[in-house]
Amino acid sequence: MQYRKFDKLGIECSTFGIGTMRLPLQKGHEGADNSKHIDEKESIRMIRHGIDNGVSYIDTAYGYHGGNSEVLVGKALKDGYREKVKIATKLPPWHVKVYEDFDRLLNEQLERLQVEYIDFYLLHALGNDSWVKLRDLGILEWLDKTVASGRIRYPGFSFHDELPVFKEIIDAYDWKMCQIQFNILDEYEQAGIEGLKYAGSKGIPVVIMEPLRGGKLANVSPDIQELWEQAEEKRSPVEWAFRWVYNFPEVAVILSGVSTMEQLNDNLRIFQDSKPNCMSQDELDLVSKVKALYDAKTKIACTACEYCLPCAFGVSIPRIFGIWNDAAMFGINDEHYQQYKKLIEEEKDAKQCTECGNCESLCPQHLDIIDKLKEADKALRV
Ligand SMILES: NC(=O)c1ccc[n+]([C@@H]2O[C@H](COP(=O)([O-])OP(=O)(O)OC[C@H]3O[C@@H](n4cnc5c(N)ncnc54)[C@H](OP(=O)(O)O)[C@@H]3O)[C@@H](O)[C@H]2O)c1
Ligand code: SF4
Ligand code: SF4
Repeated sequence: MQYRKFDKLGIECSTFGIGTMRLPLQKGHEGADNSKHIDEKESIRMIRHGIDNGVSYIDTAYGYHGGNSEVLVGKALKDGYREKVKIATKLPPWHVKVYEDFDRLLNEQLERLQVEYIDFYLLHALGNDSWVKLRDLGILEWLDKTVASGRIRYPGFSFHDELPVFKEIIDAYDWKMCQIQFNILDEYEQAGIEGLKYAGSKGIPVVIMEPLRGGKLANVSPDIQELWEQAEEKRSPVEWAFRWVYNFPEVAVILSGVSTMEQLNDNLRIFQDSKPNCMSQDELDLVSKVKALYDAKTKIACTACEYCLPCAFGVSIPRIFGIWNDAAMFGINDEHYQQYKKLIEEEKDAKQCTECGNCESLCPQHLDIIDKLKEADKALRV
């Protein structure tokens, strides 16, 4: 295992961190709707195996596995394992209504985790609205007070919005870390590479989530596989995806939500070699080719900016295009049909469109939304 320094904090952490959002589930309870039913024995075995092999960063959150992830992590870190790791967990802004909720939620989390303090305490999945809400309720003063009390060590935030919002949040406080989504397909999405470098320039350690796009980059189509095989050094698509991320010196920790012991062992192997600036120009060029092929499979160049929303007739435009693009890039499967079925049930599907044209006049990408919605509906409706 390699370790990277969090210079600002005078500590170091393993480059690979275990994300506990996708732990194995009990037999007969597989599927996203059953995520509460963690296979406790196997999950504890995996987390401890990771720590025994050098992992020193464990990421959880209030809401993962219906609230059971923190409880599971607490159990896994008994028997001397707590002292070997840094724990990151997150405050859920959507459960906050008044200032007193900050303490209420943290107390609950300390109890679930059975620990005296939390190392990295993140404001979860910040976007413009949740940031403004927490800031106006006094979160920054509360973070200062809570660090002073010793109940949390390093305040941070995780992020899912556009770059300007990211920069605004970064500049608003003396953050000790932040967490962004970053992978070969999201170089220019959300905070993206500019956000990574912006935080890096301020000495703020950046933790990466979704390095495999939630697992999608692991399951490649034959044409993508063929491209990867052009590399001189043979590596799996998973290894290339991780490698591209840990090549950036600004990256502090890369989280992956392993769901089997095999994946964990594979990642422990891959991260033995996780040094910054490790990729040659030829390898970087190959990644660009792979990215271009993924882009070519995209059905519509929707950036999910949401300028077209709300549609007066309820059509969930960027969501529909997101599902359609995902199906085209990674191969359509039951998950895509189910996601679209849910939109139909909620009356947010493409058939709600009355062709009023309002969204097309608002779209900065000048997309022919009306026609593309029809195509998406044809592909996704079963
Ligand atoms: N704060 C936030 O807003 C936020 C949002 C997202 C994630 N997170 C955190 O960040 C962590 C990392 O994100 P992520 O779980 O989406 O990471 P990821 O690495 O993009 O995806 C994890 C998935 O990739 C697959 N995988 C991992 N290693 C593999 C291997 N060696 N071979 C083949 N497949 C492999 C597995 O998919 P299958 O299970 O399908 O096999 C696994 O569930 C999460 O677990 C969570 O702790 C935070
Ligand atoms: S054209 Fe269709 S999707 Fe666009 S705003 Fe009008 S009803 Fe909504
Ligand atoms: S405005 Fe255009 S690019 Fe933005 S979400 Fe809507 S369709 Fe996508």
